[in-house]
Amino acid sequence: MELCGGSLPVTLGLVGGVVALLYVLGKRRQRLFKDYGIPGPEPNILFGSLLTLLKEGIDFENKRGKLYGDVYGLYIGGIPMINVADPDILKEILIKDFQTFTDRLNFDLNDYPLITNVFNAQGVTWKRLRKIISPTFSAGKLRKMCRGLNLCAKKLTKNFVRAAENGEVVDLKQYFGAFTMDAIGSTAFGIDIDSQNNFDNSFIRETRKVFDNAFLANPGLFVITLFPELSPLLKMFGMTAFPKTTKKFFTQAIREMVKQRRSEPEEERARRVDFLELMLNAEDDGEHHGSNVSDDTTEKSDNTLTMDEVIGQAFVFFLAGYETTASTLHFIGYILATKPDVQDRLVEEVASVLGDKEPDYDNIHGLVYMDRVINETLRLYPVVPAVNRYISKTTTIKGWTFPKGAFINIPIVIMHRNPDIYPEPQKFKPERFEKASEINPMLYQPFGQGPRQCIGMRLALIEVKVALVNLIRNIRFVRLEDTPDELTEFVTTGVFAPKHPIKLRVELR
Ligand code: HEM
Repeated sequence: MELCGGSLPVTLGLVGGVVALLYVLGKRRQRLFKDYGIPGPEPNILFGSLLTLLKEGIDFENKRGKLYGDVYGLYIGGIPMINVADPDILKEILIKDFQTFTDRLNFDLNDYPLITNVFNAQGVTWKRLRKIISPTFSAGKLRKMCRGLNLCAKKLTKNFVRAAENGEVVDLKQYFGAFTMDAIGSTAFGIDIDSQNNFDNSFIRETRKVFDNAFLANPGLFVITLFPELSPLLKMFGMTAFPKTTKKFFTQAIREMVKQRRSEPEEERARRVDFLELMLNAEDDGEHHGSNVSDDTTEKSDNTLTMDEVIGQAFVFFLAGYETTASTLHFIGYILATKPDVQDRLVEEVASVLGDKEPDYDNIHGLVYMDRVINETLRLYPVVPAVNRYISKTTTIKGWTFPKGAFINIPIVIMHRNPDIYPEPQKFKPERFEKASEINPMLYQPFGQGPRQCIGMRLALIEVKVALVNLIRNIRFVRLEDTPDELTEFVTTGVFAPKHPIKLRVELR
């Protein structure tokens, strides 16, 4: 009775007030692009263009790109994004005026210490972290990592050979995912994760949780996308972007790795070339070998990492090193199965350039055709389909004014499939890369561009080549009857992935 008589009008009044507030807020924030003369689709008051984007995937940007051109604005929920596909403007944003466009979109939730990583870091912290970890990828270090990569690739080959002998249908992503997880364990941490003998290994399971439907399965992320202003409140309530079990697992696993490494004899550690050793020697002055990671969470200087930062960097290596490279390899497997002529030519090249030699940092440079096959795969299937940058200062470039507080979205997959730049863009043509120097690096950027480009690019490319050489010497990828001639449906909420897993057969050579 009370409900009808007293509190119903109050409740209705409150709901009405909240709706009115949201409406006014939505209308006000969606004025931004109009104020700056940036064209774009009319946004829904609550979702912006988010729902259409989720429904249409890459078609969304294709259609809007045709309609509005190389610069247009859209709202992803409450986040203002300016899509830019003009190479001159991109050069300014990614390289020349990097200072203004240093950071990425970041949800500040309860993910410490995982969030202290170089991918999520901002401003001067990013600069410091990037400087400290960059030497991991020097030519000398990469050269030494090849042995470990070959051992992982041999296990991968053994798994495929077994599948061929048993006539099994293989889910490519599982095989390559286990390979890249083992490879990151070996090259970055000097450990044998051995996920290739157990596809359900905890490292794989916990990493997968971050990628599997990360955005849609996490109500916190969805809410924050609609109302970025609520992030401090959601953080206060303990909301996380990464699954809680993932945070617990990696924090413990990395602490354990550090402990174990610190207990190794000095001579053994001196032989180590991996990322973990580099981090633990982040301020190696030659006297305190291996003991300069501060154990507390606050002490930071230009050349040192706190223990929490070690955890953050290690975590991002597992994350970035696993999914991207595995996806690239699985797209290549699909290409080879559906294009036997490409596969035969690769086999011939490997035989003539390497003979029976183990692939290493120096001799794989001779695999020119393989290089083109990888480049063309990453053009057609760039596993990171878009990157973004935060606009920290209102800036005018080529007549467009980009307002502070909005973000730039770089639609990599759309640029890679632009028929004006790549005629017959859906066709796989490695010969496009015969004259690589003629390709504008702003219009082909599977690893991003500028100072914030992928730090693991060279490692990833070596890893892919070492895996391919080992594999195609022993097995052949073969399509199934229902393998499509062309992949047309994709998921774009995490890495760029086919809607249906790619399954193939393999045969012994
Ligand atoms: C084929 C494999 C890979 C692809 C396509 C790829 C692609 C990318 C892209 C597009 C970015 C963003 C660049 C930008 O914003 O301009 C990125 C950043 C990053 N990648 Fe990769 N990546 C791959 C493999 C790896 C590997 C193997 C590692 C590490 C072992 C790695 C570590 C990182 C890190 C740490 C960043 C953040 C860099 C920064 O903010 O300074 N990636 N990657």
